[in-house]
Amino acid sequence: MAFKRAKITGVGRYLPDYVLTNEELESYVDTNDEWIRTRTGISERRILKDPDKATSFMATNAANEALKDAGVSAEEIDLVVVATVTPDYLFPATAALVQKRVGAKNAFAYDLSAACSGFLFALSTVGSMIESGRIKKALVIGADKMSSIMDFTDRSTCILFGDGAGAVVLEETNEDTGIVDFIQYTDGDEDNMLYQPAGGSLHPATEETVKNKQHYIKQDGRSVFKKATEGMADVSSEIMEKNNLKADDVAWLVPHQANLRIIHATARRMGLDKNKVMVNINKYGNTTAATIPLCLYDWKESLNDGDNIILSAFGGGLTWGAIYLKWSK
Ligand code: ACO
Repeated sequence: MAFKRAKITGVGRYLPDYVLTNEELESYVDTNDEWIRTRTGISERRILKDPDKATSFMATNAANEALKDAGVSAEEIDLVVVATVTPDYLFPATAALVQKRVGAKNAFAYDLSAACSGFLFALSTVGSMIESGRIKKALVIGADKMSSIMDFTDRSTCILFGDGAGAVVLEETNEDTGIVDFIQYTDGDEDNMLYQPAGGSLHPATEETVKNKQHYIKQDGRSVFKKATEGMADVSSEIMEKNNLKADDVAWLVPHQANLRIIHATARRMGLDKNKVMVNINKYGNTTAATIPLCLYDWKESLNDGDNIILSAFGGGLTWGAIYLKWSK
């Protein structure tokens, strides 16, 4: 059987127009622009204000742009995967709605839940399916309407997140490019370090759960920060070692955008200069599954054939991992 890899051939995104600044957040909770910027690196984030629009809307727009960028028609797509923790509904899958709306009538579709590592886990899963020869072309989308689960009276969480979607077209190639390797981990979070308490089968929605604000994100910020810093730095250096990559060999680090201090710690461990690290957390905050494809979109004109790129993420689950890919379009 011919050697196969999966490579990214198109990138798209959707960001809502509404810009929620740190200054505006000062009017909701006891916080200030300086605290948010120095502790997180965030200056503003986007919010999808229209109550009739949700994750599938953003994902569909991002997917359409990625298809156009790749020059691939929707009918050619075999699989649509949406990584999200804010699906439009618990079921049907948001990916099924996207499949219909983009016109990917020959594709099957499902959602993948791995929180902030969702895009990374989806890319490795779909990439492996392409490598196996089962499918040829897929849409991999990271999309979250975090504002739908943010408590705008809780200063420890509402300053962190934003809404957005990023999408890539992943295609079969016989070249020695695309996804080369991945390492992924999970450590089940029985301590509820980072979670949404209600709305699942354990605590379905009741008047009580709504009154107690259990449909919003809860986290132990300090513990998550420590785990994320260790996890992202460890797995990123591990994938470099495993593939005999020195810092000079790496063109770009594409880190999940949760906190600028976590990103810098990861880059330091990898021995990378800051100019090799994609950072847009200042503009969009933490968009959960969308952060990595939103970075790829913002930097796509700077990517060159042959660039060694490390994607790295940490998130709820707990989940974390890294992907090594060699760029070519
Ligand atoms: N404005 C002002 N003060 C605040 C705010 C705020 N928005 N939030 C907390 N504080 C206060 C705290 O009450 C505390 O005050 P105290 O010392 O009087 O008790 C002080 O600031 C320090 O609080 P810490 O929680 O220790 O602050 P820290 O430096 O850890 O920063 C943060 C908090 C930004 C949440 C950090 O822990 C973090 O980024 N954690 C990772 C969380 C995360 O990214 N979660 C997203 C999902 S997981 C992922 O994507 C990796």
